[in-house]
Amino acid sequence: MKNLVLILIIPLFFLVGCSGGNGGKNEKNVYAIIPAPLSLSEMPGKFSFREKSTIVLSPMNESTRFSADFLASLVKNATGYELQIKEGTKAPNGSILMAVDTSVKNPEGYTLTVSKGKIVVKAGSPAGMFYAVQTIRQLMPPEVEKPFSGQPVNLSVPCCEIKDEPRFVYRGMHLDVGRHMFPVETIKRYIDLLAMHKFNYFHWHLTEDQGWRIEIKKYPRLTEVGAFRKETIVGHAGRKPQVFDGGFYTQDEVREIVKYAASKFITVIPEIEMPGHSLAALASYPELSCTGGPFEVGTKWGIFEDVYCAGKEETFKFLEDVLSEVIELFPSKYIHIGGDECPKTRWKKCPLCQKRIREEGLKDENELQSYFIRRIEKFLVSKGRKLIGWDEILEGGLAPEATVMSWRGVAGGIEAAKQNHDVIMTPTRYFYLDYYQTEPDNEPLAIGGYVPLETVYSFDPRFEELTEEQHKHILGVQGNVWTEYISTPEHLEYMACPRMFAISEVAWTPASKKDFEDFLARFGV
Ligand code: ACM
Ligand code: ZN
Repeated sequence: MKNLVLILIIPLFFLVGCSGGNGGKNEKNVYAIIPAPLSLSEMPGKFSFREKSTIVLSPMNESTRFSADFLASLVKNATGYELQIKEGTKAPNGSILMAVDTSVKNPEGYTLTVSKGKIVVKAGSPAGMFYAVQTIRQLMPPEVEKPFSGQPVNLSVPCCEIKDEPRFVYRGMHLDVGRHMFPVETIKRYIDLLAMHKFNYFHWHLTEDQGWRIEIKKYPRLTEVGAFRKETIVGHAGRKPQVFDGGFYTQDEVREIVKYAASKFITVIPEIEMPGHSLAALASYPELSCTGGPFEVGTKWGIFEDVYCAGKEETFKFLEDVLSEVIELFPSKYIHIGGDECPKTRWKKCPLCQKRIREEGLKDENELQSYFIRRIEKFLVSKGRKLIGWDEILEGGLAPEATVMSWRGVAGGIEAAKQNHDVIMTPTRYFYLDYYQTEPDNEPLAIGGYVPLETVYSFDPRFEELTEEQHKHILGVQGNVWTEYISTPEHLEYMACPRMFAISEVAWTPASKKDFEDFLARFGV
């Protein structure tokens, strides 16, 4: 019961509590911005939105209009006021000026000046403008998140001067929908949380041993067969038979989510796992395996020995067909192809895999994995895309242009950066949000591990082993949420928050400005 209460209450607390906390009477100004901005000067007094407040755009174009509409919708939701939006260069008293200013060089940067009489936002790009509005949103009292009840609401923003831009160009959160399927509405809410905290990538882990979650027109069995498992483990050890579990996203739903994310300046990176973690695909098309099957969609968690056969041409034909449909759906320059945890057991015994090793002059099965990834990379590059893989893709040699996601610690990422490859850091010890966040006895069942908020917050991707030049290859960081033990939207949010907020600060805020006590204070803890 305690767990259930925690699960239900804590996300509500964060959704409301993290966005300001300056609601009471006689309150002082509160600057509860997460991630903390590059620079913030606090000033006395507040700007209050009034029914007659106007938003002035200089100039009015698609990008300023977009963020103005967003701000107006926040104010309308909370107060019922319909703010007027018009073009102009000057902000009269009581108004909000949103001006394109190309002197703001960082493409995600902005400046925000709040005085009692007006708010002035300047940004060089639509993303910067959008992030400025997210900051204004967090500076408002929690009432900004509540629909207007008919009671007057004083929506105010404390006076300040903010100059802001991100530390890293890649600020990501991942979600595994293979182990458990989550509804479109949950994915959108997850994207909302990301956008509020200035993340710009959503890594959507769409295929797994336990479920294939994306409709592929050319291979309908992937979702007819591969999207459902006949039962699932309940608890770490026990089994409850016949818990039928599954589902998938239609291509229309995928488009809807990609568009929704883009409207919040978030790029969705699809992950199609290969050569391992592919049992759901093999259950659908067993001829793509080394043994020919038959297989069933995974009902347990772990690593399975049946993987795509690297010796068969049909495997590459299939994957290129799948990726072609994926590329049509996802404008992201990055396509994630997994590459992790691929046992070589079947390849060692498979005549076709062994033939490939001989014919390609490969040394062993690690080099066969490298052959596999290089071949897929060549295909992606021919389509104008870039390959991302987990750090196992280093084994047997990196594909020439691959970006490495370092998860088994930071060593893989450091090695990749030394080889002049781009890197995203997502080490288990800091950024695996499926791990316990407090003592296991107080928590809903999780996969294991222990990654409390302070540990997440403490990560800093600077390494003695790397030169300044090599550090430039570290594009940023990402939190991962694997869902073997997470099956409801409430539990997902409980695991993701508040740790994703700590990751947002690792990703956005300069290390010199980070302060864990201050971070907690911004929650009102
Ligand atoms: C992973 O956690 N297997 C990338
Ligand atoms: Zn084989």
